[in-house]
Amino acid sequence: MSIQFNKDTKIFHLQTKNTSYVFCVTDFNALEHLYYGKKIPFDNVKHISNRQIYSHVAHESREDRAFSASVQGFEIAAFNSGDIRTPSVVFDYDNKADACRLRYRSHTIYKGRKPLVGLPYSRADENTETLEVVLTDDENSVEFTLIYCVFADEDVIARSQILKNIGGGKLTVRKFASMCLDFYGMDFDVITLEGIYLYERAQVSRSPLNRGVFKNNSLTGTSSHNHNPFMALCAHNADEDIGETYGFNLVYSGNFADEVAVDQLGDTRVIMGFDDTGFSWTVGKGETLVAPEAIMTYSDQGLGGMSRNFHDHIRKHIIEQEFAFSPRPIVINSWEASYFTVTEEKVLSLASHALDCGIDTVVLDDGWFRANDRIGLGDWRTDKEAFPSGIKGLCDKVHAMGLKFGLWLEPEMVNAQSEYYKEHPDYVLSTSKLPLISRHQYLLDLTRDEVVQDIANRIKEELQGVELDYIKWDFNRYATEASSFVTAQGEVYHRQTLGVYKLLSMIKAEFPNVLFETCSGGGGRFDLGMLYYSPQIWTSDNTDPYARTYIQYGSSYAYPVSALSCHFTEGDCTSGRKSTFEFRYRVASFGSYGYELDLSKYSAEDKAAFKSYSELYRKDEDLNLSGDLYRLISPEKTDYCAYIAVSKDKKKAKLTFLELYASGFIESMALRLKGLDPEKLYKNEETGEVLHGATLMNVGIRIGDLYRKKRSDGYTVNFVEV
Ligand code: DGJ
Repeated sequence: MSIQFNKDTKIFHLQTKNTSYVFCVTDFNALEHLYYGKKIPFDNVKHISNRQIYSHVAHESREDRAFSASVQGFEIAAFNSGDIRTPSVVFDYDNKADACRLRYRSHTIYKGRKPLVGLPYSRADENTETLEVVLTDDENSVEFTLIYCVFADEDVIARSQILKNIGGGKLTVRKFASMCLDFYGMDFDVITLEGIYLYERAQVSRSPLNRGVFKNNSLTGTSSHNHNPFMALCAHNADEDIGETYGFNLVYSGNFADEVAVDQLGDTRVIMGFDDTGFSWTVGKGETLVAPEAIMTYSDQGLGGMSRNFHDHIRKHIIEQEFAFSPRPIVINSWEASYFTVTEEKVLSLASHALDCGIDTVVLDDGWFRANDRIGLGDWRTDKEAFPSGIKGLCDKVHAMGLKFGLWLEPEMVNAQSEYYKEHPDYVLSTSKLPLISRHQYLLDLTRDEVVQDIANRIKEELQGVELDYIKWDFNRYATEASSFVTAQGEVYHRQTLGVYKLLSMIKAEFPNVLFETCSGGGGRFDLGMLYYSPQIWTSDNTDPYARTYIQYGSSYAYPVSALSCHFTEGDCTSGRKSTFEFRYRVASFGSYGYELDLSKYSAEDKAAFKSYSELYRKDEDLNLSGDLYRLISPEKTDYCAYIAVSKDKKKAKLTFLELYASGFIESMALRLKGLDPEKLYKNEETGEVLHGATLMNVGIRIGDLYRKKRSDGYTVNFVEV
């Protein structure tokens, strides 16, 4: 059993393979957090909370100075309750404050998990166990159900909570986080993935925490290009291999907030959930509000250990199992080949070269229903001049050539110049003034069920009978002035995100076996919410392989390689910089691989090279899909980048070494490998040398040996057990 409750001590102990999470019911029936970290026995650890601190905070213990709500750890921290730190919930009930004292009432422990209605979440398998703890306030007006799903094999605990109005009054919720976690006496660095359009998650930001509140959030209506929901807290000495590291992420795609509050004692509180800016939610009698899921992991093997836990969890529990471990399509995407000038003829031309290049799927990107980005969204009517056979006709032709067919959609939007907007000006998120426009488009008001249904119907109608194999689902503007003609203002952002999930589910139901790839103006919505619906996400519009190295390396802290959609392209459309074919392949194969260029411009020799890359990718794809990733050299620290993917059985590994700038060190560089079995003998498939894993990991290899064999800006070396 992963979850134990001791009736005498009233301690809950959640255990995974290597971690323990412990909390208890106090004498005052509060839920007090005691410990999260490396696995410990089922001991009574209540002594850790016994602090003799005088505080000016009133509490029902009154004279007992050993208890102060201002310094105890809590599983849920309500504002106005005597806990004066950053709260995880803020609400009022008929304008009364006494509803904030939350008391344990009951709990249940069961196998599996229940779905979080309307939201994505970690999917259960036969080992998943769940604990639900119910608390209510003194007045019995509000009920909270705290949910803990334990994924023992991956060392992950997923948390969420549900709030219910069980009284007869008015419950107004102003903040409702998914989780609250208190650490006693910890002193951490905080790590987040920062970026911008064309440089998403490329900057791995790390700094020591100070007293006060650190916040990583998004107010864009999406998880954003700028701040990813992922966050880590680690010991100051933690690196890729050692040091205590806690990782957090949210299974959510809207406005989120990760908060870390360090109090006067140096204790640290983590709060994650939706951002409360402008948030106000009325929960009617008998109604509920569900917080998105937050996932947490702990590793004493540094950032590398944390990433591998997350990679395993995401592949096994977030991504649909039908796709998670299966070879991904190798696509040729029309966007960088022809942008809006795309036609049926051009798509068929791409298709005619595809098989020669080892490509199996042709994807028609934006431009099939419009010649520029000012028109078409919302109307969803195929441009018959450019596509005389229609999408069905084209799809059938591509299928007849022995290829699969994919299509681009951006269902959440409407162009200002569209029939749809003219017919339904009230279907967009806007204020009563003329709404601000971005990329000539507005966000549809998906807080309204009738809009979700209507746009789904239009898309279904246009694509009726088209046997799609793949859909690329894009999203190209942030929310601004997001008001609804019908939805209460404080509920708009979250209801919009719920509407996105509903629309995705509806279109997915229409195309049940289709692989979805999500996208947001590059990688502006790269999060676990989207990965629940789409096994891979377009990583960035920046396909310059030098820049991509930083983007993909940064993304790998939180997300498995197979989730990163990466294409071999001309590569210079953002930077103008030229790069070798091999370099482009090496970088793009650190992800789900494809192509995005005009194949007709390439010689037979080039296409033979593409074919060999596709074959190489397929040969090693299992390492992307299910292997363990070890980051070896960060591009942020040197002029190089290196990583190695090792199969779970440790029988094979693929090392990638990239030289970003010719700095002259390559000849002398010794590189120590990681993740191999020390006892096993491995053959270096480039040099033929056979060495033990222990030797490769402790002595290392010389990059100069490869360089002298063949001068190159990078190397891929396979190691196989002999
Ligand atoms: C933004 C995406 O990131 C691109 O790949 C492409 O699909 C364009 N949108 C199309 O408008």
